[in-house]
Amino acid sequence: MSTAEIQDYLKTATVVAKEAGEVVREAFYKEKSLQTKSNYADLVTETDQAVEKQIINSLKEKYQLTSEDNNQYEADISQFIGEESVAGGHKTEWTDDPTWIIDPIDGTTNFVHQIPHTCVCIGLSIKKQMVVGVVYAPILNEMYTGAKGQGAFCNGERISTSQQNDLKQAIIYLEGGSSREQDVLRRKFNIYHKVVETTRGTRTLGSAAMNMVNVAKGSGDAYVEYGLHIWDFAASGVILIEAGGAMIDPAGGPVDFLSRRVLCASSQSLADQLSTTIPEHIEMERD
Ligand code: IPD
Ligand code: CA
Ligand code: CA
Ligand code: CA
Repeated sequence: MSTAEIQDYLKTATVVAKEAGEVVREAFYKEKSLQTKSNYADLVTETDQAVEKQIINSLKEKYQLTSEDNNQYEADISQFIGEESVAGGHKTEWTDDPTWIIDPIDGTTNFVHQIPHTCVCIGLSIKKQMVVGVVYAPILNEMYTGAKGQGAFCNGERISTSQQNDLKQAIIYLEGGSSREQDVLRRKFNIYHKVVETTRGTRTLGSAAMNMVNVAKGSGDAYVEYGLHIWDFAASGVILIEAGGAMIDPAGGPVDFLSRRVLCASSQSLADQLSTTIPEHIEMERD
């Protein structure tokens, strides 16, 4: 795919994320219509569902080409993986086809509680390689963009990761996540204990993508989470890599987007140090 084509997809994803973000902003201080999914900590609002539909419809509209001959439509990109569509029964089938990967609101709990770290995430994969990523945080007014080989930006300004290579001086983002399974929680808190013990400090923003873009811009140095899904870190992953960061499987080696776990850091060296510090790597059920 040419640089110009990638730029076009990035531009589209940016416009669509901005429009979706307006809907999130509009709803942010209003009362929410709320449901739970797998347990009492796994929330979805009408806005999550509406925003996902809006994003998919806008992308379909943009990339459907009208054939003048027979008035039929051909979709340029017809594959979508979206959190709320999957929740509605669509299986996560990630193929080599160009695929839009969407988290309509990352940080739904923040959204419900009026905590501003909430964002719209749109990523594009081609042959299972992430090529475009957009993370838009409408309340913070931060638009993060990244495209393969073309750098990472926040509101148009180039961003890069910190130069931190010493774990003892590093700030690490961690998340409790939404699983309430005892065994998962026990293992997570063992990890939490070790990370607090061996680093300068830990932080939790309540949004996987916000954690990642903050590492991408040097506000904090690493992030590790077990239990997330491809839509939580696909878009922000492009931004992190383009900002000079590293994204690996927490146990080391290349990241697997369907393994439901990720470790990212300002550099490969810091990622490797954090990976070896973690006392046990939780095996999650795959997407
Ligand atoms: C969640 C957030 C949260 C992370 C969870 C995600 P959602 O996404 O990113 O920070 O800990 O693993 O599921 O449900 O708000 O889109
Ligand atoms: Ca969710
Ligand atoms: Ca999410
Ligand atoms: Ca979500």
